[in-house]
Amino acid sequence: MAKIKTPSESLTIMTNIVLPNETNSLRNLFGGELLAKMDRAASISAARHSERRVVTASVNHVSFNEPIPEGGIVVLESKVTRAFSTSMEIYVDVWLDDPVNQTKVHTNEGIYTFVAVDADNKPVPIPELRPETEEEIERHKAALRRKELSLILSGRMKAADSVELKKLFTEGT
Ligand SMILES: CC(C)(COP(=O)(O)OP(=O)(O)OC[C@H]1O[C@@H](n2cnc3c(N)ncnc32)[C@H](O)[C@@H]1OP(=O)(O)O)[C@@H](O)C(=O)NCCC(=O)NCCS
Repeated sequence: MAKIKTPSESLTIMTNIVLPNETNSLRNLFGGELLAKMDRAASISAARHSERRVVTASVNHVSFNEPIPEGGIVVLESKVTRAFSTSMEIYVDVWLDDPVNQTKVHTNEGIYTFVAVDADNKPVPIPELRPETEEEIERHKAALRRKELSLILSGRMKAADSVELKKLFTEGT
């Protein structure tokens, strides 16, 4: 029987303090630094789920909602949200943790696609994913839409072949 895993099996938590050399001219964490950290966390989640070597296929979405100041404690939490055939979607949630004031603010999120590959860098099948919590089920449901959008935008899929987005791209044409 094919292996089925849960999102919690790929949970990856990375905690860092923001150092001066990672900041921009406003003394907040530089966006590119955060992207690199998010990519690392997502790649670990992808490897944990697939039990394979993985590569980043696409960064589907990143939002920067709140600045993260120098000295801030930044916590990244990533999990696989849906497994397709050889590719998987990973969500990375970013938090600013303030132990002095006992607050935890959600500053960012990113959505990545990773592909599991063999020794020749050819895509290989991965285990299925069964979401458990309400949030995991929501994210799992919407992931096909995001995959199709990413494939259409990268020119790998024609809008007419899309299951979920055909109407959005073809209506009125
Ligand atoms: C990603 C890569 C392995 C895909 O290889 P490929 O031979 O094009 O393979 P396929 O077309 O069969 O795609 C493999 C899977 O990736 C998915 N995929 C590929 N590009 C995608 C994109 N832009 N968005 C979403 N999914 C994508 C495909 O839909 C397919 O998913 P599925 O098997 O789960 O249905 C290949 O393009 C690659 O090695 N890219 C470079 C990766 C890299 O170096 N990353 C680091 C960047 S610094």
